[in-house]
Amino acid sequence: MNPYESRQANIKEVIVETPTIRTFVLEPKPALSFHAGQFIELTAPGVGEAPFTPSSSPYEEESLEVTIMKVGRVTSKLFDLRPGDTLAIRGPYGVPYDIDRYDGRHVLIVGGGVGLAPLRSLFLALLHNVSAYKKIHLYYGARTSRDVVYDRMFKEWDKIKNVEIRRSVDVGDKNWKEKVGVVTVLLDGLPFKPKDGLAVACGPPIMMKFTTKRLLELGFADEDIYLSMEKNMSCGFGKCGHCRLGELFCCKDGPVITWDRIKHLEDAFV
Ligand SMILES: Cc1cc2nc3c(=O)[nH]c(=O)nc-3n(C[C@H](O)[C@H](O)[C@H](O)COP(=O)(O)OP(=O)(O)OC[C@H]3O[C@@H](n4cnc5c(N)ncnc54)[C@H](O)[C@@H]3O)c2cc1C
Ligand code: FES
Repeated sequence: MNPYESRQANIKEVIVETPTIRTFVLEPKPALSFHAGQFIELTAPGVGEAPFTPSSSPYEEESLEVTIMKVGRVTSKLFDLRPGDTLAIRGPYGVPYDIDRYDGRHVLIVGGGVGLAPLRSLFLALLHNVSAYKKIHLYYGARTSRDVVYDRMFKEWDKIKNVEIRRSVDVGDKNWKEKVGVVTVLLDGLPFKPKDGLAVACGPPIMMKFTTKRLLELGFADEDIYLSMEKNMSCGFGKCGHCRLGELFCCKDGPVITWDRIKHLEDAFV
């Protein structure tokens, strides 16, 4: 198949998550299957395309969800779209999480801001076989309580026996009853030994940098720290070179890359 080939997707629903983040429920024709960790390219009609990672479960066949933060040209145009509109999707691209390696271990998921979107897809995939893991720890940080995504779902996830949830906001307010501080404060008092688990992180570059530093201090092995390296992308499959990270291409070697493969690079988090 031509790797540039796209398919049409009908927008079934648009869910407002926060003032700047929305989840688009899409119905691609034909259906698009993907594995957690892979990404797609979405076209905003008349403007251009941008990469996003599905936020829904890879086991959901009827529809595909993408949670998008409005930051610039493409994302602003996507925010103008309404249910019933169509857009083009191509992909999936990239390497999936190697979740077979997670069996029998603690899985720590650390998300910052809209970075929880790609991780939700992984989290839902793990829930599909939740008893395979010692425990799934979902830690999430946002700037303020107004910026917290998936608030409605956290209440349900918190009830699952094999799941531990921690959340923080950088700036608290009178309605926020959980932790206040940057997301790394959630890593204090980790309820398992790092050698018994692995960590997966996604968020803005500064958050990834300090989360990685803290995970290393705690004793996680380099190869057990999985990072979503969301570099600028264009083709999505190793042709254009836009997404180079040292000797790697984030689109085809990633976007999820373990720390041992990039720790020698000075610009890993730029
Ligand atoms: C593999 C991958 C998966 C992604 N998944 C998601 C997702 O699930 N949800 C989501 O909201 N976003 C995701 N992104 C980021 C998304 O692709 C960008 O926000 C988008 O390309 C911005 O396009 P724009 O035209 O609206 O912004 P532009 O007009 O291009 O830029 C506006 C501003 O946003 C900044 N910006 C542009 N691209 C990025 C980026 N990749 N990361 C951070 N800042 C950026 C620019 O520096 C500029 O300041 C992902 C990126 C990659 C590479
Ligand atoms: S996006 Fe073109 S090589 Fe990676």
